[in-house]
This record gives sequence, structure tokens and C-alpha cells, in this order.
Amino acid sequence: MMLNWHDLRQRAQRVLPAFAFSYVEGGADDEKTLAHNMAVFDRWQFAPPVLKDSSQRDLRCTLGNSALSAPLLVAPTGYNGMLRYQADQMLARAAAKHGIGHIQSTVSTASIEQLAVEGNGPRWFQLYVLKDRDVTLNLIERAKKAGCEALVVSVDAVHFGNRERDKRHYLRPMKLSLKAMANIACHPGWLRRTLIPHGMPGFGNLTPYLPAEYQKGMGAAAYFASQMDQTLNWQTLAWIRQQWHGPLYIKGIMTVEDTLLAQQLGADGVVLSNHGGRQLDGSISPMLMLAATRQAVGEDFTLLIDSGFRRGTDVVKALALGANAVLLGRPLLYAVACGGEAQVERTLATMIQEIDRTLAQLGCCSLQELHAELLRSRH
Ligand SMILES: Cc1cc2nc3c(=O)[nH]c(=O)nc-3n(C[C@H](O)[C@H](O)[C@H](O)COP(=O)(O)O)c2cc1C
Repeated sequence: MMLNWHDLRQRAQRVLPAFAFSYVEGGADDEKTLAHNMAVFDRWQFAPPVLKDSSQRDLRCTLGNSALSAPLLVAPTGYNGMLRYQADQMLARAAAKHGIGHIQSTVSTASIEQLAVEGNGPRWFQLYVLKDRDVTLNLIERAKKAGCEALVVSVDAVHFGNRERDKRHYLRPMKLSLKAMANIACHPGWLRRTLIPHGMPGFGNLTPYLPAEYQKGMGAAAYFASQMDQTLNWQTLAWIRQQWHGPLYIKGIMTVEDTLLAQQLGADGVVLSNHGGRQLDGSISPMLMLAATRQAVGEDFTLLIDSGFRRGTDVVKALALGANAVLLGRPLLYAVACGGEAQVERTLATMIQEIDRTLAQLGCCSLQELHAELLRSRH
């Protein structure tokens, strides 16, 4: 029975070949931040008031032009096609069905155009800024044309984290070891669901830009790695602000100072995130920056957050400390790997139920009633 994220994770570990599970699961270096991201929620405990009528509850929230039925978005994750054929489409449809947001990665397997026809939910696009400004601009134009309601610029993966769990399966970049190949052969179900329908998944958004020598095999990944703009800075973000007139969020912000700079630049919000512990090991959980950041930016600036959220109670703690909504990463990847679209739908339904139940038990009828006084900090 798959009741919670522990069950999903265990099942995903069984159904995925080791190299694919490591890709989803891994963090940087010693994975201290990965562990800290999940442990940090215990620092706050609820102090629930009683005897308040919370029989009618409303979880809706609005972020820019996007009306969400609950304060959740699917986090952008690259290369989901390695988990299951059409995993991006499944995640997008399940999000639309629940009326929550879906953020498509630059390095998704499906292209922007392919996801534009999947459901009517709020669709956002996550941009990695590439060295080639024309390509970057073209990605922005494609997102506009496809009706994406917001642009999320990720700024924390300019230098890739050291993910050793991942590396153990490769002889050299992109070349799986014999052991990893033998392990794949022990997962015929995954082969049937993932590789057999259409071969190795690619990077749908990048295909139009690939030079001839990168068109074959894992060429797109090599192209992408060579194209990350390592000079990315606040001027680049100001340029992007000029190109995209809709809601703009900067993802991967971890300090109050940077949040204030994003606000001055004219961004509509930030995603406080340490990339799920996949980048700089030893970095702090964004939960520990949240209250101070909210205090610094005031009420109207949007604060989204991710990294380590596994339960509805985690989400409610973030909302009480000032977040507008939460992005979910790995739990939904486990879900799509285990049971496809139907399992993502069930996982989202469970998460929404958990948020709703927590609100009820705190005597709150809406997200606006959540506030820091409902929490006691252990530290
Ligand atoms: C397999 C995987 C791929 C990811 N790919 C991207 C990506 O392409 N762009 C991005 O901005 N973040 C990416 N992230 C980070 C997520 O958007 C998000 O910040 C993180 O997963 C949140 O932590 P959680 O997994 O603990 O929920 C990825 C994360 C994972 C696990």
C-alpha cells in the first residue's frame, strides 16, 4: 500500500534501475543538506488553538495571473523521461486535474509546445540562461507563445553540484558502466515503460538549437552542459526582466539580501531553494531563511519555497512562516516512476488532503489565517 512518500520512495527504488533512482535521489557531496532539508521541519511544532469553527475550508491562492486550488506547484525537474515514457505529460496533466501549478524545466524531455496541449492548469516555464543569448531569447518567446503564465529563472545551477551517487554508475560522462547496464537488464518493467516505446529520451526544448555534432545519443546533455552561462549576474536578470513582461520569479535564492535585490529588479517573487540539496552541500534549508525574508520584503512580494517538503504539515509550517506556496520535487518523481499519472494524481490528492486536515486541526478556514503564532520554535 502506498500511503506516503516513504512507501513511494521504496517502490521507486525497486522499479527504477539504480542509475535512474540515483539521479532522482542524489544530493551533493555527503548529502548533508539533503538530510537537513527534511529534518529541519522538526524545529517547529504546532501550538493548535481549539474550539474554533473550521468546518468550511478554502485552500485557494493566487500567484500573479495564476489561480491555484491549493498552494502547490510541481517543481521543474529535468529529464523526467528517464523515469517513464511521457512522464512530463503525466505530471502536467495530474497538476491540471488538481488545479495546481506545473513548472516545466528547460531540460524537460517534452518540449514547451508538447506540454502546451496537456490540460488547462496554470503552466509556468523554468529558464536556464544559456550563453547563446539568441537561444535564451527564443526559449522565452516559445514560452510566451505557448501561453506559459510565468517565467521562473533558476540561478543556482550555473556550476553543477558534485553528485557522487550519480557518478558511480558511469565510466565517463554519459557512458554507463557494465554493472549499470546489467542492472538495467534486471528491470524489464522499466525498459517496457521507458525505453522500449521510443528509445532514449531526449531534451525536447533543446533539439532545435543542437549543432549537427550534438544531435546523436546524449549529445543534447553535453551541449546543455557546455552552454550554461557561468557569467550569469544581476544585469542578465535585468535583461530578462525586459524580455518577459509577465510574472517573473527567480529560483535558487537563499539570502535576504538577494531577495531584496530581486525585488528591486522588478521580479514578482523568488523561490527560496537549495535545489533539493543537489548543489552546494552544507547550505542551509530555505525554511530557516523564510521568516526573516518575509519580514524584509513585506506582504506583497511572492515567496515560494522548496527543498525537502514531504508532508502537508511541512507545507503548512512554511505558509505560517510567510510562504505563498510550495514546490514539490522528488515525491512526485517517485510517484510518476511507480505508478504513472494515476499515482501522481493520488499523491497530489493526499498532499492536498494533508494540508486541508492540518488547517482544520489548527482551527483555520483559509490560508490567510495561518500565522507564525501557530508555531513554537524549538531553537
Ligand atoms: C531529478 C531532479 C531534477 C531537477 N531538475 C531541475 C531543473 O531542471 N531545473 C530546476 O530549476 N530545478 C531542478 N531540480 C530542483 C527542483 O526544482 C527542486 O528545487 C527540488 O527538487 C526541491 O527539493 P525536493 O526534491 O526535496 O522537493 C531538480 C531536482 C531533481 C530531484
